[in-house]
Amino acid sequence: MSNGLIAPHGGELIINLAADAERAALVERAATLPQITVGSRQLADLEMLANGAYSPLHGFMTRDDYLSVVNTMHLSNGLPWSIPITLSVTTEQAQSLPEGSEVALVNADGAVQAVMTVQEKFGYDKALEARQVYRTEEDAHPGVKIVYQQGDVLLGGPVRVLELQPQNFAQYRYTPTQSRALFAERGWKRIVAFQTRNPVHRAHEYIQKCALETVDGLYLHPLVGDTKGDDIPADVRMRCYEVLLEKYYPQDRVILGVLPAAMRYAGPREAIFHALMRKNYGCSHFIVGRDHAGVGNYYGTYDAQLIFSEFDADKLGITPIFFDHTFFCKVCDAMASKKTCPHDSEQHIMLSGTKVRQMLQAGEVPPREFSRPEVASVLIEAMRQPIPQP
Ligand code: ADX
Repeated sequence: MSNGLIAPHGGELIINLAADAERAALVERAATLPQITVGSRQLADLEMLANGAYSPLHGFMTRDDYLSVVNTMHLSNGLPWSIPITLSVTTEQAQSLPEGSEVALVNADGAVQAVMTVQEKFGYDKALEARQVYRTEEDAHPGVKIVYQQGDVLLGGPVRVLELQPQNFAQYRYTPTQSRALFAERGWKRIVAFQTRNPVHRAHEYIQKCALETVDGLYLHPLVGDTKGDDIPADVRMRCYEVLLEKYYPQDRVILGVLPAAMRYAGPREAIFHALMRKNYGCSHFIVGRDHAGVGNYYGTYDAQLIFSEFDADKLGITPIFFDHTFFCKVCDAMASKKTCPHDSEQHIMLSGTKVRQMLQAGEVPPREFSRPEVASVLIEAMRQPIPQP
């Protein structure tokens, strides 16, 4: 590419958003079509399909792509892709949707979001998807639970999204086209992306800054789509980033944006998926630390790093940057990991998520070595509001 940025996955951004000229005709046609109401996960998928973040996908996966992704972590054309992007319906709904027909995808308010061509409808093996993608069949796993609750038939085919709806975090909701333009404007070529779904702490800050030492810019890219009920809400996490950036980051070397996708909690497979989306946003590097996108004890601490060796690096394109578990060491008097610190773990300040939550709920500020005080204040304030349980 002339601006020196990494090429999108598959070579070009696939924007499945109807152009102005096309939209009026689509809206008119949609009014005559059968409707399917889609939930927040699929609305997020539609946004990602519309803005190009899911390039090279044109829509929800057809059978070949679905099976190829589930079984081989590649699309049927051979490009890496690790998470199925699917639209499920009940068997009853599927009966009235012949292959080759069109369907209007509507939100909970009945507003048409997209027109989809039902290229294929097919049954699928939920337990197989659970095993392959999530490495467990237990429905206690939040990603598996969603698969089991879905309809029994998948609809595959291209979508034309009518328009990107106004959403929260509007000022941070850059499309891949926009983030690429921002990077190019700043003359950045090597950009490291950081995925996160948790409130920012010192270990996050440390690995972001270590990576930033070696590249042109940092793209802080918190996920703001669906997360499980006991994760901290995105608006609170974004406020944490705002106060952190204001005081501790070089403004000209960092951009904060949001990733609208839903969390899958698929650990290793999701790390690949997270990296590929960031490639589409224009990032050349991607941070993978400990238990990336993990939940409970389903994945080994570094499984999400090991999985990268199962792919052809050229086909992935984006370069992962791996970090060991990092912590503050009292003797080093610095953030470190086992790779850089020779001291016993008694010297390390490591707090569990549960412990930190208890402290914050009690209005107690966690140690500076764990959290910046400005971030802790935002969290303590937020903890005064009850957090919905899953
Ligand atoms: S995630 O689900 O988005 O992976 P989280 O927001 O906690 O969860 O983590 C964001 C990134 O920081 C991930 O790459 C994760 O592996 C990494 N990370 C989180 N905590 C640590 C830590 N203490 N040491 C090293 N990496 C970490």
